[in-house]
Amino acid sequence: MAAMLAIINEGDEVIIFEPFYESYGPDSAVSGAIPQFVPLNDDFSINEEALVSAFNKKTRALIINTPSNPCGKVFTKDELKLIADLCAEHDVIAVSDEIYEYIVFDDRKHISIASFDEMRDRTITLSGFSKTFSVTGWRIGFAIAEKTLSSAIRKAHDFLTVGAPTPLQRACLAGLSFPDSYYKEIAGMYEKRRNFLYNTLTNAGFRCHMPQGAYYILVDMPEGTGMDDMAFARYLIDKVGVAAVPGSSFYHSEPGKHKLRFTFSKKDETLQEAARRLEKWDK
Ligand SMILES: Cc1ncc(COP(=O)(O)O)c(C=O)c1O
Repeated sequence: MAAMLAIINEGDEVIIFEPFYESYGPDSAVSGAIPQFVPLNDDFSINEEALVSAFNKKTRALIINTPSNPCGKVFTKDELKLIADLCAEHDVIAVSDEIYEYIVFDDRKHISIASFDEMRDRTITLSGFSKTFSVTGWRIGFAIAEKTLSSAIRKAHDFLTVGAPTPLQRACLAGLSFPDSYYKEIAGMYEKRRNFLYNTLTNAGFRCHMPQGAYYILVDMPEGTGMDDMAFARYLIDKVGVAAVPGSSFYHSEPGKHKLRFTFSKKDETLQEAARRLEKWDK
């Protein structure tokens, strides 16, 4: 929110890939920006034509989230280069939300778009502690940006929250001295849980997209339920005892109505219990 308030003037356009983390729409609305949603392809690769045509002279910023909530996409170097070239050509700032940066699977590498020379001074890199150190709810995050941008962000932030609670900031500092092995361990732990939940959901009849990072699985609802995503999510809670987030939280367009997002950021016992309940589910 602070990043958006720092860079947006009323009526500026902001490019947002779809599916998106649900705060980006409201962040755009509050800062006065007009969101331009660019749907990713079915396999969550970039639709180059759609992306190119979203840029125009009103475009001020592009929001990128890698690894992505909700689809687990990790943008490749080539994709980031495409975005970087377009941002440089159109003088656009990238707001890069990298809060799942350490949760990547199958030996993939997380790449920050700010690491491209042309993006160094036109990227606001955002991250936080909640995912890496399993402290969701503490709401401690940070922004890294060029001096002028950083100064504007800090002014907006001062009037939004004044500051994050000091004791929590100190506790997060302790996390920063964890050894490299810690980061390997969390990625390994989530990779096992991803595999378990992927198999569970596939066996239960959902078409799953294998996440490359983060800790969610976005699935297609089974055909012929006669329900939209909201009704089906309620049905799963009431009849099966398993909760998922309706897909329309992450889509501006129709496909969201046929999707659900599950998370594997849960204890092994919880995931096993979910598997038992889904197995017993009388479809
Ligand atoms: C993509 C993304 N960005 C930012 C956040 C915010 O994280 P927090 O408020 O825990 O710092 C979340 C939390 O779900 C997220 O998924």
